[in-house]
Amino acid sequence: MNANDKPQALELHDVSRTYHQGTIEVAALNQVSLKIGSGEFVALAGPSGSGKTTLLNVAGGLDRPDRGTVKIGGEELTNMGRTDLASFRLNHIGFVFQSYNLLAVLSAEENAEISLLLRGVEADERKRRVRQVLFEVGLEGLEHRRPGELSGGQQQRVAVARAIAASPSVVLADEPTANLDSQTAVALLDLMHRMNQLHGTTFLFSTHDPRIIERASRRVLMEDGKIVRDEASS
Ligand SMILES: Nc1ncnc2c1ncn2[C@@H]1O[C@H](COP(=O)(O)OP(=O)(O)OP(=O)(O)O)[C@@H](O)[C@H]1O
Ligand SMILES: [Mg+2]
Repeated sequence: MNANDKPQALELHDVSRTYHQGTIEVAALNQVSLKIGSGEFVALAGPSGSGKTTLLNVAGGLDRPDRGTVKIGGEELTNMGRTDLASFRLNHIGFVFQSYNLLAVLSAEENAEISLLLRGVEADERKRRVRQVLFEVGLEGLEHRRPGELSGGQQQRVAVARAIAASPSVVLADEPTANLDSQTAVALLDLMHRMNQLHGTTFLFSTHDPRIIERASRRVLMEDGKIVRDEASS
């Protein structure tokens, strides 16, 4: 296999997703094609309702397109059955959501450990990797706190730790900084960028915040379910 044949980290080809609201049809994604190479750090921008969340959900196999294909690392998600898709997500994709989605009764450590537990990683190895990843995101010493005992920025760090703990090839983040003040948001983005550099993990994250968009190495802009601009940083 030569370099040109190397599969993309993420590839959407001619993807459409229409929602039906009563008699009205909304083309949330309208024939979208996008290729993201391994190790890229990409911001997905665009006005409210332009299709960012839909694109991330479809890219991560949380939602299925009406047409088109989605591939991660060359593997086509769009023809997998439910069970295969769930196991593919577990092994290859990390998710970070706007609302953190942490389990309130679990500690930071236990939340970060979940994907490793589900993958059947053995206890000592889980402990070792979770400690390492919590250290990397700057939460050393806070391992035993529950989400309610952490600030918003710290909770989102736990969510990033959870997303990367199992070494996914791609992390999809839907407005990961939306609930954070702008200084904490920038710090979280810098942290994601460090993880991208350190682990070579591909990141695709949506945001409305210009200060966050400018930190990405590539910016994809959506409008009305289409990609209208795609530019690399100079
Ligand atoms: N479950 C759903 N049922 C019906 N319509 C939906 C659903 N989810 C999204 N839509 C519609 O699809 C379009 C795209 O929505 P989407 O959530 O992807 O936008 P977005 O760019 O993430 O917006 P925001 O910046 O506000 O999060 C919108 O018109 C929205 O109303
Ligand atoms: Mg959204």
